[in-house]
Amino acid sequence: MQLIEGKVISDKIRNQLKEKIQKISKPIGLAVILVGDDPASKVYVRNKANACQQVGIQSYMYNFPADASEEEIATKIKELNENKDVYGILVQLPLPKHLNERKILDYISPKKDVDGFSPYQIGRLLLGEECLVSCTPQGILMLLDAYNIDITGKRAVVVGRSNIVGKPISLLLLQRNATVTTCHSRTENLSEITKQADILVVAIGKERFITGEMVKPGAVVIDVGINRGQDGKLYGDVDFETVAPKCSFITPVPGGVGPMTVTALISNTLKAAIDGN
Ligand code: GUN
Repeated sequence: MQLIEGKVISDKIRNQLKEKIQKISKPIGLAVILVGDDPASKVYVRNKANACQQVGIQSYMYNFPADASEEEIATKIKELNENKDVYGILVQLPLPKHLNERKILDYISPKKDVDGFSPYQIGRLLLGEECLVSCTPQGILMLLDAYNIDITGKRAVVVGRSNIVGKPISLLLLQRNATVTTCHSRTENLSEITKQADILVVAIGKERFITGEMVKPGAVVIDVGINRGQDGKLYGDVDFETVAPKCSFITPVPGGVGPMTVTALISNTLKAAIDGN
């Protein structure tokens, strides 16, 4: 079993991105909007700001109070859409309940949608065209590529069908010529399907849900989950203890997929800057 070291790969790719960014003469800005003070979101936003600084991207942070109105946020997004130095705009999710996520996200110019959440970018992904791909799925592909893991012809099973992870990673794996099955909470006989996976991607937000007997010997297991256990420790959606001994490759939690998400965001921001606005 080989551990997929997200932190190591992430550092390496960030250094490559930094070199590319240094060669671009214009300032590259990324705007991040946080509404409210959800502790996890605050950590994610801080990580994004730190990564920007590390690679030479100018970050613009906007923290709205939890009771901010759609109009206030929309006004800021529209202003950022017009700002020539800003190539990427993202709204940290989840938003407070009174705000409609889809409506807020739809204010972002699709060209600046570095999260790849817009119908425009998702549509291009479905068509197999160049696009800004949602960061976590893109980070997963970066990991598979970094470890030279073959995708073509392989049986890939994705557990989870969210718009942020499950659906886009299913499309990306399909595009890379895997035979893809997307499972979810209503899937019958789940373990019969997961047991067929050469590549198993799990993004369901249920602590240690996938256990050893659900995994094929020699599988590559990608764990997207980050769950805080009752003991205060972080656990993935995969029960590492029973699954790891059966795998050829597995991502740990923390230190697997997590660091790649922010690296993919940097990569998307650079891409948006090269494409221009
Ligand atoms: N919340 C959890 N994951 C993400 C993400 O990838 N982007 C944004 N904007 N919010 C998130």
